Amino acid sequence: MSHPSHPPICNYEGSDYQQVFWDKGERAYEDQVEAIAIRRLLNQPGDWLLEIGAGAGRNTPRYRTYQRIVLLDYSISQLEQAQARLGKNERYLYVAADAYNLPFVAGLFDAVTMIRTLHHLAEPKLALQQVRQVIKDGGFFLLEYANKQNLKAILRYLLGRQKWSPFDLDPIEFAELNFDFHPRAIRQWLEESDFALKRQLTVSHFRLGLLKKTIPLKILVAFDSLVQPSGNWWQLSPSVFALAQAVGDKAPALPNGFFACPQCHGNRFEEHSTQTVCLNCGQRWEIHKGIYVFR
Ligand SMILES: C[S@@+](CC[C@H](N)C(=O)[O-])C[C@H]1O[C@@H](n2cnc3c(N)ncnc32)[C@H](O)[C@@H]1O
Repeated sequence: MSHPSHPPICNYEGSDYQQVFWDKGERAYEDQVEAIAIRRLLNQPGDWLLEIGAGAGRNTPRYRTYQRIVLLDYSISQLEQAQARLGKNERYLYVAADAYNLPFVAGLFDAVTMIRTLHHLAEPKLALQQVRQVIKDGGFFLLEYANKQNLKAILRYLLGRQKWSPFDLDPIEFAELNFDFHPRAIRQWLEESDFALKRQLTVSHFRLGLLKKTIPLKILVAFDSLVQPSGNWWQLSPSVFALAQAVGDKAPALPNGFFACPQCHGNRFEEHSTQTVCLNCGQRWEIHKGIYVFR
């Protein structure tokens, strides 16, 4: 998993992911159990929250205890969809940028979330280190990851119907730029990136077509909600929500500025209606229909 130049990007430009996967994809169960996990884990009051891989903003309204939210996604069209869904609300700021090169000054955010996004990253630890750069010391990081050591994968492996082992720590790329991770590897990367893992909730335990067809949605969601806290002890579900806290004193007491140029890391800009200019290196960054484009 070493990429000497830049890690490859799973490009969602022009994708109808929100409509096909969520709105028409019969995933009300997954959506509702994720909402429960977010409510349980991210309820601290705070000012700025950064949502990395925000997509069409499915989860954004769920970050109720934070005053302002930056929706960051590599894809401009995903952010346009988010704008259309959420409206041009003062609370939201839209930024098209790369999770591997975040365009913010150090220690800016009270909280960061990354949901259903790490599984597209070939260099997950690089991205976690970027999160640690832009979060305040003591800030909260809510990370969802796809768990390779889930019950279905274990059974398939033991029955000889799957070649890769769910027990070894390496990520498994089951489709191009789609990775499942081992919970112990995630814990290790978080610790190496100066995060302390605080709590884990296992989510989507009953993600099986037959169960979703035969058991009423309300009951399935209630059962999932009941077993989510077991994630603190063992993780056997396909999706895990981990709450980590930034440790150490890396961030300045008061961050100086807001954006940082992805090219030179300068933090002074001159803003015009359709572009913002880095006063350090002169690079011009587009502002496209209210979306700051830093890539
Ligand atoms: C599966 S979607 C999840 C969207 C949203 N978090 C949700 O749960 O509905 C993954 C998102 O991650 C974004 N993404 C993938 N790689 C990225 C990167 N390197 N930097 C920023 N965003 C990225 C994609 O553009 C896409 O919108």
